Amino acid sequence: MTSTTTPETLNGERIEELQQIAGDHLFMHAVQTNDWRGHLKIYVKGDGVWVETVNGDRYLDAMAGLWYKSAGYGRKEIADAVYAQTMAIDSPPAGGSTLPQIELAGKVAELYPDHGARSFFVSGGSEAVETAVKMAKKYSQLNGKGGAFKVISRRYSYHGGTAMAVSLGRNPAADPMGPEMPGALHVTNWNSYRLPFAGDPVDVAIKCANEFEEVIVHQGPETVAAMIAEPISAAYGIQVPPAEYWQRLREIADKYDVVLIADEVITGFGRTGEWFGPMNWGVQPDVTAVAKAITSGYAPLGAAIATKKIADAFVGGPNETFKHLITFGGHPVASAAALANLKIFEREDLVGNSRRMGNYLYEKLLELFSHKMVGDVRGGLGLLAAVELVSDRANKTPFPADTGLAKQLPKMLFDRNIVSFRAGDVISICPPLSINSDEIDFIVDAIDGALDELEAELGI
Ligand SMILES: Cc1ncc(COP(=O)(O)O)c(C=O)c1O
Repeated sequence: MTSTTTPETLNGERIEELQQIAGDHLFMHAVQTNDWRGHLKIYVKGDGVWVETVNGDRYLDAMAGLWYKSAGYGRKEIADAVYAQTMAIDSPPAGGSTLPQIELAGKVAELYPDHGARSFFVSGGSEAVETAVKMAKKYSQLNGKGGAFKVISRRYSYHGGTAMAVSLGRNPAADPMGPEMPGALHVTNWNSYRLPFAGDPVDVAIKCANEFEEVIVHQGPETVAAMIAEPISAAYGIQVPPAEYWQRLREIADKYDVVLIADEVITGFGRTGEWFGPMNWGVQPDVTAVAKAITSGYAPLGAAIATKKIADAFVGGPNETFKHLITFGGHPVASAAALANLKIFEREDLVGNSRRMGNYLYEKLLELFSHKMVGDVRGGLGLLAAVELVSDRANKTPFPADTGLAKQLPKMLFDRNIVSFRAGDVISICPPLSINSDEIDFIVDAIDGALDELEAELGI
């Protein structure tokens, strides 16, 4: 059945029907049906940093969709590029490529610090991670480490929803799925607020990085193919490491000939105020997984970007071929969306805006320390920030789980016209990179008001 529903033809009765259909037939991702049944937010329009629901309510999207709407909503030139490519040729016969796919590979190499980079395009972030890991394993084989299959990642990271990515993430928020991928090994994650070891933060960060080395040495370097980390872990609450952390990861990877993978599904394409996160620290990973902001979510696309050194290992004979295939990886229509999106990034200097507005956001958020329940404010590296709430600031004591912050806060923020469903003990803030200072004020004022309300409710 073709949908005849447009925002203009909606009325109260049709909205109720849609709620009913959704309630009966739609799996929303990673949320409990009973939590939204009958009152699902149905979005019908977007413009800049604003979105509008079927009921006509307008909200500022402080999460950029799910960490991706970097160019903001309603970009006609992206829609035009999608239309033009669909009418020209939407997807080619296997074995060939298309204009936007090739041009996008060139553009990514131009923006990436290693201009000799080669991109393997996929459909999203989980596939980008899986591709990066498979590439690292095959590279290790080609590079004389035939038995290397182990991959080291950090506890509480998030690397995606597919089976291997879940093994790497070891995230307690995910459903247990039985045995993990053999060879998935985990080390302590960096946490700037609750340092995992006592000591000076830089020393602790280096100690955390050194755990990768300990595991490599213990397991045998010849068995370890890759180490993977996010430059800033969003899943772990927007954890910005000191420069020395990634610099040390690079040294360890070089010392033991292990492929260093940066999971930049969130941080890639400007989120940290640089095109790519590790550029902030002068570090070049071997493979970078990206998705989300490469198209600002206008179409699904991801990539594993390999440096020339890694990519060149795959140029040779049949044995060197990377036997990895994703049917819609790098779909030409999505590639056309990505190109149009990145053109906007360059024209409007969204990466520079991310840096400038990121600093502004961070400074404004620091004012929230006037609330006793604000334990920590993290950010300062682009438009990725967080406010962590605690019941006791001196002891950094989290609120008991039954306080229900993860249910209350998003609602309190919705009441103030802010979408921020990643709000609970940690309120994550990740707006479109096109945001201005007035809009940032609007977000921070809303959080301020929500904290006032919460404090009144909790009697703090
Ligand atoms: C760091 C990171 N890696 C990988 C993924 C998986 O991406 P996708 O949901 O597009 O498969 C995500 C998704 O949020 C992510 O945050």
